[in-house]
Amino acid sequence: MSTTRFLTGITTTGTPHLGNFVGSIRPSVAASLTPNVQSFYFLADYHALIKCEDPVRIQRSTLEIAASWLAAGLNPEKVTFYRQSDIPEIPELTWLLTCVTGKGVLNRAHAYKASVDKNTAAGREQDDGVTAGLFMYPVLMGADILMFKAHKVPVGRDQIQHIEMARDMAASFNHLYGEHFVLPEAAIDDHVATLPGLDGRKMSKSYDNTIPLFSSRAQLQKLIGGILTDSRAPGEPKEAEGSALFQIYQAFATPEETEALRKAYADGIAWGDAKHTLFERVDQVIAPMRAQYEELIHNPARIEQTLLAGAERARTLATPFIRELRSAVGLRSLVQASTAAKPAKAAKAALPAFKQYREADGKFYFKLVAADGRLLLQSTGFDAPKEAGQAIAQLQKDSTALQTLAPRLAPVDGVQAAEVTAALQALAEAAAAA
Ligand code: TRP
Repeated sequence: MSTTRFLTGITTTGTPHLGNFVGSIRPSVAASLTPNVQSFYFLADYHALIKCEDPVRIQRSTLEIAASWLAAGLNPEKVTFYRQSDIPEIPELTWLLTCVTGKGVLNRAHAYKASVDKNTAAGREQDDGVTAGLFMYPVLMGADILMFKAHKVPVGRDQIQHIEMARDMAASFNHLYGEHFVLPEAAIDDHVATLPGLDGRKMSKSYDNTIPLFSSRAQLQKLIGGILTDSRAPGEPKEAEGSALFQIYQAFATPEETEALRKAYADGIAWGDAKHTLFERVDQVIAPMRAQYEELIHNPARIEQTLLAGAERARTLATPFIRELRSAVGLRSLVQASTAAKPAKAAKAALPAFKQYREADGKFYFKLVAADGRLLLQSTGFDAPKEAGQAIAQLQKDSTALQTLAPRLAPVDGVQAAEVTAALQALAEAAAAA
């Protein structure tokens, strides 16, 4: 069975609310537990700088979001959970992608266009107050996604355009420099509810209508008490459709419980009682996580350590990959460049070559291919790209490494040991001559 890699980022500008929990945290944690799925979740703090110039807010939000995801059951042993700014390869890749992205494409990005339209409507210069950071937002996001070869990117509908742009950047780069990137796809879950907020509009920080995920029990009760309802009196039948209270309840309750509340609405439940029912149901879900959250939020050192460990794991992929990409575009050792620039292009093509790649099982492999394309050597799967790279280095240096590495090599039909040794020696000689 092949593994699908999911990746998503959370911008660190706010405090997680019930809408984030229902729309993103809960489904992501559930998805991370399904078999044959590899998950990468990260705190998009470079993206946060585009929207927020308050350092305290950024730091606090990073802590709160990390604590929320962990309290909601994200297992950092099982998923790769990291902070974007701990991966210096991301801004480096951003630049490589910047150079294959049309400016006109970025002109058409929704977020940028919305700012331009707003300025135009107000009679201002079109780029008034627009930073280059906002303009470049999709490229940074493309780097997030392409760096880790994500297949699926779970996002809200408003982000689909960004995933399509990342796909286009990958295709342009691959076209120019060879197949390096996986083309990602947006994963939109239509079953996931968007939660209404206190005023009935979509729950969102920008509407200031949110219920924080980890309020105290007392605060939660008070906030739920403030959800907008109509003025129908106790005993009067009430509409479940279009009721924010009802929709929030539905996102936390079982289908049976939801039906029971629908009936209570028809029977004229008092708004006060409906709010109490909602409060108890939400609290029942949140309470066990709340204890965990409180413990985590008061222990930032532990979260810091978790994030750094996640970054270290992410960088075992990012570091060799950026090296590969740099080399592909020509940012490489002058020694290496002079080999490639030798007029004897045909002689170079006549050499056998090592190929390193990753399989759908998530493991790292290499093979040795003869000048005519025949397979000479095939490795078994390595857990880390570095291990595969080290094995190649040993073989390139000395063909007797074939013996020590025998357990990591899979048999290849119809290939003589002598042929493999000869190929390795040819490689070693070519390297020495370069
Ligand atoms: N732009 C995303 C949002 O606002 C956050 C984000 C940043 C992201 N990088 C990403 C999402 C990469 C998915 C993949 O929701």
